[in-house]
Amino acid sequence: MNKDLLWWQKTIAYEIYVNSYMDSDGDGYGDINGIRSKLKYLQELNVGAVWLTPVYASPMVDNGYDVSDYYSIDPRYGTMEDMEALIAEAKSMGIRIVMDLVVNHTSDQCEWFRQSRQSKDNGYSNWYIWRDALPDGSAPNNWRSIFGGSAWTWSEERGQYYLHTFAVEQPDLNWANPEVRQAVYDIARFWLDKGIGGFRMDAIPYIKKPDELARGVPDGADGMVSIHDMTCNTDGILDYLREFKQNVTAGKDVFTVGEANGVGPDDLQHWTGSNGVFDMIFEFSHMNLEFKGAEVWYKTDHWTLKDLKRALGESQAATACNGWYPIYFENHDKPRSVNHYFGDDVDPVLASKAMAAILLTLRGTPFIYQGEELGMTNVRWDSIDDYNDIDSIGQYREALQNGLSHEAAMECVHRFSRDNARTPMQWDGSANAGFTSGTPWLPVNSNYRNVNADAQNRDTDSVLSWYRRLAQLRCGNDVLLYGSYRELFENSDSIYAFVREDGVDKIVTAVNFSGCEQSCGLDVVEVLLSSYPGGAIPGKLRPFEAVVARVR
Ligand code: NOJ
Repeated sequence: MNKDLLWWQKTIAYEIYVNSYMDSDGDGYGDINGIRSKLKYLQELNVGAVWLTPVYASPMVDNGYDVSDYYSIDPRYGTMEDMEALIAEAKSMGIRIVMDLVVNHTSDQCEWFRQSRQSKDNGYSNWYIWRDALPDGSAPNNWRSIFGGSAWTWSEERGQYYLHTFAVEQPDLNWANPEVRQAVYDIARFWLDKGIGGFRMDAIPYIKKPDELARGVPDGADGMVSIHDMTCNTDGILDYLREFKQNVTAGKDVFTVGEANGVGPDDLQHWTGSNGVFDMIFEFSHMNLEFKGAEVWYKTDHWTLKDLKRALGESQAATACNGWYPIYFENHDKPRSVNHYFGDDVDPVLASKAMAAILLTLRGTPFIYQGEELGMTNVRWDSIDDYNDIDSIGQYREALQNGLSHEAAMECVHRFSRDNARTPMQWDGSANAGFTSGTPWLPVNSNYRNVNADAQNRDTDSVLSWYRRLAQLRCGNDVLLYGSYRELFENSDSIYAFVREDGVDKIVTAVNFSGCEQSCGLDVVEVLLSSYPGGAIPGKLRPFEAVVARVR
């Protein structure tokens, strides 16, 4: 058994969507000092690494994922002194701060882009991806951006089109230019020197574009093709990323986790592990069960538990001997896991506990997303105007353009809107869930009087208490860190179960995803946890029950 795991493999990580975590100054937006006030809460969850969504200066078209200055903190979030204090205080409590490195693109307000768009021959002219119009004046090709609409926008000033994988205000950097790559390394080193614990690398599979930016076969009524299908994981990308590793993180006691939608389990061995470019990657096969290829919300498929089991099993297998896996079921771009994996009608407490049991006992580093530990759920707002998320608005338009009714398009928004996960953190039962004394930038989920950290802190059967118990279990049982993974009851359509074993100890997690009681024969030595108050029933799993047990 390999007992050489590093700190970030043994820890529990936690993602904070900064806008929505804790507001310290009453402006309605979460901020760095708000996070500082919650470090104790994180410590009590056994969290050792906190990934912050971007806090750099930004016009906030995409809530910080449009960076205008990588060397300063946005005033909405605080000051550089606040950030340095957060890094230091967290470290003294055993928590490393992990920053979001957003370098596929910048904001169109970034100085580099302002200069680049001025002419075809300035010092930054080759820092972005510029192309002439086609003879009829139209865009260079038919690529659709991920947020909808053409991936090309015309600049009157420069007389050319620029490429943007995401919003118009998020122009893509030209990684083929060595000066761009050096600038990225400088930014990363600047923050590492401040003592952070690593980076989450945003939208990383898109950084390398194919040599020829060719038209693609249209995949929708708009005659366009998703840019994802044309640029994701292009050959040669790993050369850039290897260079990043050599220049930035090699030999440092930090970790990197790439956001790699479209890089599947088969690629994990090249992207992570001893010869890989990152320590971990967030791959999306278990998150995108209903999507074939690119994520277009109005085009979804039915999925079954077996699909989920297959996806989780594949990533476990791919990192069994080499590489390491970040286990996650939520982030700020996805619906709440309770609704996603169990639907809207299942008791959210049981559903949350079931997902948590899997999250904290699979092999890898668990990433809890803020509020997941409380069982926070999706929201359903009536009008598209109620939504802040730029992606929801783009996807809604795409759906209408492709013939869906308003009602059907809104149904997609309800299911997949990124705002589902972005409503403010529910701290207590007071006004605005204790998140802000002002007006929250996004409405609080109306269930906050029942679902909040304060109430759950006092309830030993709550989702939060369950998380704390699971976190302690994970930290106190070596087999959950070092042990191998093997699936049980593979043919079951209702049960997901697996054993972690290390030759000395064996711990099984078994979850009933169905509303019917299931028999589940295991040679149990000791039931460690059951999600039903009062404990487990031998040989059975009640509807949506999760059990963690030591077995022979
Ligand atoms: C992925 C981020 O998680 C998402 O929130 C953002 O909109 C895009 N990348 C663009 O940066």
